[in-house]
Amino acid sequence: MALPSMARGRFITFEGTEACGKSTQIARLRDALQAAGREVLLTREPGGTGVGERVRELLQHAPEGEGMEPEAELLLFAASRAQLVREVVGPALARGTWVLADRFLDSTTVYQGAARGLDRGAVDAINTFAVGGLLPDRTFLLDLEITESRRRLGLRDGEGGGDRMEREPDAFFERVRAGYLDLAEAEPDRIRVLDATAGEGDIARRILGDLDAWL
Ligand code: TMP
Repeated sequence: MALPSMARGRFITFEGTEACGKSTQIARLRDALQAAGREVLLTREPGGTGVGERVRELLQHAPEGEGMEPEAELLLFAASRAQLVREVVGPALARGTWVLADRFLDSTTVYQGAARGLDRGAVDAINTFAVGGLLPDRTFLLDLEITESRRRLGLRDGEGGGDRMEREPDAFFERVRAGYLDLAEAEPDRIRVLDATAGEGDIARRILGDLDAWL
């Protein structure tokens, strides 16, 4: 994928449960990278392309999404990602741009696999097919307890409000958190776990420190 005359950009993904502070850290890292003279592109999932944004609406807010089967949900997230990888992320990396992604395939492994309970082999195979070999160079997992996530969202277990996913019970988000920590243990070279209750500045410094060798 790299152009001969130009270094390939780095692909950095951010993961974690709702309200863990991903967007704040992505914005801070973007500012730091741009100050260091890097081209930076931000993406979010589901979404990030015309196709993906329509899929996002269906997955998160459309009334038609309410009765969605877990298998259909898995394939829609994968569809959004397949488009994003080919239309946006791959070409940007090839131009030498750094891509910072708000969620990527680990979200599917964890939400549809660990939390919804879909077969892990099927989830892995669909993820692999969707990304076509493009994997993150580094993933930052902002680890947050469910009680703190709920507090930040201003939502309690069983309450209405929030999007389709946020209306899931605490037990679902316990499985999300455990699923992420299991993944991080399985892939320590790629995934860095950060305590999301630390100060914003501290977290940002840890991220920059980790990327120092590349900068
Ligand atoms: P967010 O934009 O607030 O991160 O919301 C995206 C929601 O979709 C969040 O609840 C996590 C969920 N999700 C999945 O279940 N699977 C996926 O593959 C992705 C990307 C997100």
